[in-house]
Amino acid sequence: MRILVTGGAGFIGSAVCRRLVLQTSAAVVNIDKLTYAADLTSLASIEGLGSYAFLQSDICDREAMDLAFADYEPDAIIHLAAESHVDRSITGPEAFVNTNIVGTYTLLEAARSYYERLPFTRRKQFRFIHVSTDEVYGSLGPDDLFREDTPYRPSSPYSASKAASDHLALAWFTTYGLPVIVSNCSNNYGPYQFPEKLIPLTILNAIDRKPLPVYGDGRNIRDWLHVDDHAAGLIRLLYEGRPGEKYNFGGDGQRSNLEVVTQVCDVLDRLSPGAGARRSLITFVPDRPGHDARYAIDASKAHRELGWEPTRTFERGLAETVGWYLKNRAWWERARCGVYDGSRLGLLVAQH
Ligand SMILES: NC(=O)c1ccc[n+]([C@@H]2O[C@H](COP(=O)([O-])OP(=O)(O)OC[C@H]3O[C@@H](n4cnc5c(N)ncnc54)[C@H](O)[C@@H]3O)[C@@H](O)[C@H]2O)c1
Repeated sequence: MRILVTGGAGFIGSAVCRRLVLQTSAAVVNIDKLTYAADLTSLASIEGLGSYAFLQSDICDREAMDLAFADYEPDAIIHLAAESHVDRSITGPEAFVNTNIVGTYTLLEAARSYYERLPFTRRKQFRFIHVSTDEVYGSLGPDDLFREDTPYRPSSPYSASKAASDHLALAWFTTYGLPVIVSNCSNNYGPYQFPEKLIPLTILNAIDRKPLPVYGDGRNIRDWLHVDDHAAGLIRLLYEGRPGEKYNFGGDGQRSNLEVVTQVCDVLDRLSPGAGARRSLITFVPDRPGHDARYAIDASKAHRELGWEPTRTFERGLAETVGWYLKNRAWWERARCGVYDGSRLGLLVAQH
C-alpha cells in the first residue's frame, strides 16, 4: 500500500510514519507544512529509506494537494495535519479555522477528485482516515463515557474546528461516497510530543525543578492513551474500519490532571533523584477558559470491530515517556529554546 500521511512531522503523525515504514510493508509520503509544532528529526529513523518520502506543503493549497495525489497515487490517506493545542486556539483561533476546517475541506476535495478517477478495484480499497479528538463531544459528568453516537458539543475553538472537520469528512462519505472513516481519540502521550502539552511540559519543568502549573483545582479528568497504541489503531482502521463509520480510541486511563502531574514528579524522583520531592513544585494557576471537566472513552467498538487493544498501562507508558525525555534532551532542547519556552498560553486579557 502507498499511504499519504498529512501532519507526519508532528507528534502522532511521526509515530504513524515510523510504524508504517518500520513495521509494515507500506510506502509512505508525509505531507507537512512544518509549523512550529513539527520536527523532522522525529523521523530520523526512517529518513533516507526508499519506502519513505517527505513533501513540505500546506493542506490548504489545493493545487499542491492535487499534484501530490497525481504524483504519489496513494491507496489511502491518514489525515493528521492540524493545529492541535487548545490554549493556542484561545489566543489565536484563525489558524485553527484555516488548517482544521478549510485544510480538511481542501484535502477532501482533492481526494474526491483523485478517487473518482481511480479504476474500480482501486476505488474499492481506497480509504480516507480522518483523525480527530474526543474533545468534539464536550464535557462529561462524573460517570458517563463518550460513545460514537454521543452528540457533539465542542467547547474550545480547537474542538469546534475539529468538530466542523468531522462533519465535513462524514458528509463527503454520505454525499459523494468518498470512503471516509473518522477516529476520535482521547489525549495522547509518549515520546516526541512538543513540550507545550501537559505531560511533556510537566516533565521538562520538573527536570529543571521549575514550578509545575496545574490549571484550576487540578480535578479535570482526561483519558490517556500512549501514542504508539493510537498509531496501531489508526493502521487497523485502514484494513478493518468500515467506511462512513466513527471509531473512538481510548486507553481506559482516566486520571485527573493533578494525578498526572504528581505521577510525573514521583517517576522523575525515582529516575533522577536529587534536591527534594518534586511534588513541592506543583503550583495551582487560573483555569483555562471553557475548560471541560471530564473526558472518558468507550472504545468497545474499536475492540470489537478492529481487534484493537491498548498494550500499555498508563503507569508503564508514563515511566517510559519520562525516561525518553531524560535521554533525549537534544530533541526537546531545540523546541524549548528556539520555539516555545514553556510560558503560559491561552489566558484571556480582560476587555474594557
Ligand atoms: N495530541 C493529542 O492528544 C490528540 C488526541 C486526539 C486527536 N488528535 C489529533 O491528531 C492529529 C495530530 O495531533 P498531534 O498532537 O500530532 O499534533 P501536532 O501539533 O504535534 O502536529 C501537527 C502537525 O501538522 C502539521 N500541520 C499543521 N498545519 C498544517 C497545514 N496547514 N498543512 C500541512 N501540515 C500542517 C504541523 O506542521 C505538525 O507537524 C490532529 O488532527 C489532532 O487534532 C490529537
